[in-house]
Amino acid sequence: STNIVVAIDGYSSCGKSTLAKALAKKLHFIYVDSGAMYRAVTLYLLRNNIDLKDEEAVKAVLPDIHLNFHSRDYQTHILLNDEEVSDEIRLMPVSSNVSAVSAIRAVRLEMVKQQQRMGKSKNVVMDGRDIGTAVFPHAPVKLFMTADPKVRAERRYKELLPNNPDITLEEVFENIAHRDYSDTTRKESPLIRAEDATILDNTNLTPDEQLQFALDKVQPFL
Ligand code: C5P
Repeated sequence: STNIVVAIDGYSSCGKSTLAKALAKKLHFIYVDSGAMYRAVTLYLLRNNIDLKDEEAVKAVLPDIHLNFHSRDYQTHILLNDEEVSDEIRLMPVSSNVSAVSAIRAVRLEMVKQQQRMGKSKNVVMDGRDIGTAVFPHAPVKLFMTADPKVRAERRYKELLPNNPDITLEEVFENIAHRDYSDTTRKESPLIRAEDATILDNTNLTPDEQLQFALDKVQPFL
């Protein structure tokens, strides 16, 4: 039989990665955090003072950016040119700029190519914005996650606070609203539900309930 791809897309901070990790762990699939890739590219561009509005400049340095995952424990461990940057890519400088970077066509083409390679022969759970539409349009299982924006901001705020004591709930809410807007209105593969994706609104669902929902969708393909 062929390999199985589970595509999980949706808005920012609605629990995609929490569900994707739990599902991958349960099924012994590989977990791929596609957002971490766009974040790592953003970190590289910021560190090297590349003008994010200069598409040609961004394109020119793409060959210098080497991304690798090492998946020990179903957490995201991403290496940018052999340096682990998993924590740094969650900080505000990257979060505030990643949507601009992910709107650049050359960046998307390269990331999609690498993502398709990762899901070519292995069972994977991949989360992102365009996995069910552009990366794996034929994925047998597609989920589209959403949740109340206020609930999303509160969840993400609690998650970020321990490492970012100065952060405010308002700032987190603004960042999420900004990324939702930018991700859904960009020209290159905007965030949109694939016609055959199942909507999962988790505003009032526990992580266990979400996992069960997803397992029920995958079960027929196992
Ligand atoms: O998933 P995460 O919130 O970490 O993604 C960060 C940003 O990367 C998103 O706001 C979006 O701009 C971009 N992204 C994307 N396509 C994906 C995954 C993430 O454009 N497949």
